[in-house]
Amino acid sequence: MNKQAFKPVTRVLTGITTSGTPHLGNYVGSIRPSVRASLADDVQSFYFLADYHALIKIGDPARVQRSTLEIAASWLAAGVDPERVTFYRQSDIPEIPELTWLLTCVTGKGMLNRAHAYKAAVDKNNAAGADPDADVTAGLFMYPVLMAADILMFNAHKVPVGRDQIQHIEMARDIAQSFNHRYKTGDKDHFTLPEAEIEASVATLPGLDGRKMSKSYDNTIPLFAPRVELKRLIAGIVTDSRLPGEPKDIQGSALYQIYQAFASVEETKAMQEAYEKGIAWGDAKQMLFERVDQEIAPMREKYEYLMNDSTQIEAILLNGADKARQVGVPFMQSLRQAVGLRGLGGLQSVVKVKDKSVKSTLASFKQYREKDGLFYFKLVDSSSNILLQSRGFVTPKEAGAAIAKIKNHGIQQDDQAPVYLGTLNVNELNVINTALQQFVEN
Ligand code: TRP
Repeated sequence: MNKQAFKPVTRVLTGITTSGTPHLGNYVGSIRPSVRASLADDVQSFYFLADYHALIKIGDPARVQRSTLEIAASWLAAGVDPERVTFYRQSDIPEIPELTWLLTCVTGKGMLNRAHAYKAAVDKNNAAGADPDADVTAGLFMYPVLMAADILMFNAHKVPVGRDQIQHIEMARDIAQSFNHRYKTGDKDHFTLPEAEIEASVATLPGLDGRKMSKSYDNTIPLFAPRVELKRLIAGIVTDSRLPGEPKDIQGSALYQIYQAFASVEETKAMQEAYEKGIAWGDAKQMLFERVDQEIAPMREKYEYLMNDSTQIEAILLNGADKARQVGVPFMQSLRQAVGLRGLGGLQSVVKVKDKSVKSTLASFKQYREKDGLFYFKLVDSSSNILLQSRGFVTPKEAGAAIAKIKNHGIQQDDQAPVYLGTLNVNELNVINTALQQFVEN
């Protein structure tokens, strides 16, 4: 296959654990960059609500549900377009826990012993003279494997995350390599090795007390706090005691850093000058409030609307799960084959044509001739769904050339007309191009 010529889409995947109410730090560090990234032409984004992960931390069912609603509504209000992005809830994809088990069986326990979150819990117990594993669930221990399944299920290339998650992505790579190595068939790798993507331009947002904005410090500003509440919270941001007229220092000023995360370069420069000229803290807070509210207000309106229409959000998520499973179900089938979880019917032939049996679970091209005398082809997935239907070609050679081109180059929106019937939307293009990866990667 011609790897150079085929510029495949980059698959970007990230999840947010549904364990709380999103705050400005989540917005600046994760929600806003993920929405921006999803707008690029050559990316295929998978964004999801990590509710299985939430169960590791949260024992309150109502809170898990509430947080799922809030985070889904926040992402949508901030501009995630479910037509463009595969937007889903982790627990709607049963293939994810299924994959988790396959991965568990190639994961070294020793590696998991070294995971930061687990180690921190053990260290804390040791320091307190308690049993090292006191109150440590197997869920916490297995956290990195579940996360690896999230990522590897969709063969994500890039995973935008905060720094605290880098180790998890490295573990996902490690697990993918173990699996690829153990179940190697021909030169086919089952899993793409993911890479962490750290939003370098975004420093972590400080909270009300100047420490990192985080639920665990109780210093957050909820993303969609009503205006009055937003104003009240901003008024409570710590400052030093310099009086109006006294020059202020931008170094270490939480207020300035939050302002910078929302303002343009020019606005930020103007704020810096205002600091130098001794702006009163009250006035600086008013400027911050107005700047944040200017960006948030239109989304807040959408958010409140969505929060009152949970049925619509539910429908969006179920639809997203359908889309995700179009990729996940056939992929999981091929993985089951790979590890030996296979049907026993016709065992002899399965053993003899082992590679073919793997291939047959993937998408394939079918060529045929119609009554009109023309030559057609279609791309069908493992469940015989037609992903792509060609127009008629005068000769089988032309049809064959069109197939070869698609295998090598994928398909783009603008080269539809000469080759395909009808028009395809971005989703359909994504599904097809994902299916086409097999011809390049296998
Ligand atoms: N562990 C991530 C967090 O707490 C959330 C998460 C779960 C995630 N699965 C993921 C992030 C897969 C990226 C990819 O921030």
